[in-house]
Amino acid sequence: MPVPDTSKPMLAALAGQTQTRPPFWLMRQAGRYLAEYRAVRAKAGGFLDLCYNPDLAVEVTLQPIRRYGMDAAILFSDILVVPHALGQPLAYLEGEGPKLDPVRTVAGLQRLSMERFHETLAPVYETVGRLSRELPKETTLIGFAGAPWTVASYMVEGGGSKEYSHIKSWAYGDPAGFAKLMDLLVESTTEYLSRQIQAGAEVVQLFDSWAGVLPETAFRRWVIEPTRRIVAGLKARHPAVPVIGFPRAAGLMYEAYAAETGVDAVGLDTMIPVSWAAKTLQPRLPVQGNLDPILLVTGGQALQDAVHGILSALNDGPFVFNLGHGITQVTPPDNVAELTRLLRTWPEWR
Ligand code: CP3
Repeated sequence: MPVPDTSKPMLAALAGQTQTRPPFWLMRQAGRYLAEYRAVRAKAGGFLDLCYNPDLAVEVTLQPIRRYGMDAAILFSDILVVPHALGQPLAYLEGEGPKLDPVRTVAGLQRLSMERFHETLAPVYETVGRLSRELPKETTLIGFAGAPWTVASYMVEGGGSKEYSHIKSWAYGDPAGFAKLMDLLVESTTEYLSRQIQAGAEVVQLFDSWAGVLPETAFRRWVIEPTRRIVAGLKARHPAVPVIGFPRAAGLMYEAYAAETGVDAVGLDTMIPVSWAAKTLQPRLPVQGNLDPILLVTGGQALQDAVHGILSALNDGPFVFNLGHGITQVTPPDNVAELTRLLRTWPEWR
């Protein structure tokens, strides 16, 4: 068995240690709620130009760490650089989110390949390498990718979706054909995360933001199984690097996900009752989460009460404090400072 590095609070939590003060980071902690991010973003031109520019990507990754001193920095990039590097045209339209030229058939897959994959993503690996040299010594560097189901949803729908009708129709109606897309994503995502780890990522997180839209049988096949394959592939090459899985809105399927994918920790969404997670998930593995990002917009007593509830339930076991979904762009930066203060002074105000 590899010996985990527990010299950093984030890594200690992921290795199963209970700590007095919870380590924390926030999903989407680099972003538009910070004026310094907006300034760099304006300078970069397009959002993808920012993701593929190591100077600027390093800078925006470090911005929230400088302000708030989170225990972990997450690589600044996006889950959709994987389809982009596979050859799928991608654009981020102002105010509309990502748009892709949709792939909906096996024939459409012919346009995708791994031929220029690592070459396209080389600037991301460069960003990871520089971050691993520049971060404060107590700060953990997290790499990430989207999980296959969530990335496929953008690839097939052509962007964000409400109904997921195209991807579900393909997955339900032609599972063998859809499996070819998922196989490509399992392979490319494993490769991508492995390169991030080689470049210096100490933990990786798989974002499965749309895991919650599938019924049980499909959830097992298109969420649990591809995740299990990626984790197995990473463990074969990097046995000591923890993998966090975030199957957002998976509800009652969280338990099977935690038991069967091989992930080292699970990220809890906002809807998961913390008492249930403490009883059912935490005895098996460390958990991360799950403050409603809107409470960080609200602030004040409502924020403090919610943080109290989460810490009371989860901080007596291995735990990483986080949000239950990404931070929103209308979050007042002072509320993040207040959250930081609450977490740093726990359990004094219990
Ligand atoms: O957490 C971090 O600070 C690291 C960076 C990060 C981004 N996206 C930056 C980003 C991470 C980890 C992501 C993950 C991501 N991207 C997910 C999974 C997590 C989740 O939120 O569910 C998803 C589904 C995406 C796809 C994506 N990227 C969407 C839907 C959008 C548009 C939404 C929006 O807020 O405009 C993006 C763009 C994006 N990714 C932005 C950032 C900071 C905003 C782009 C900008 O600056 O204009």
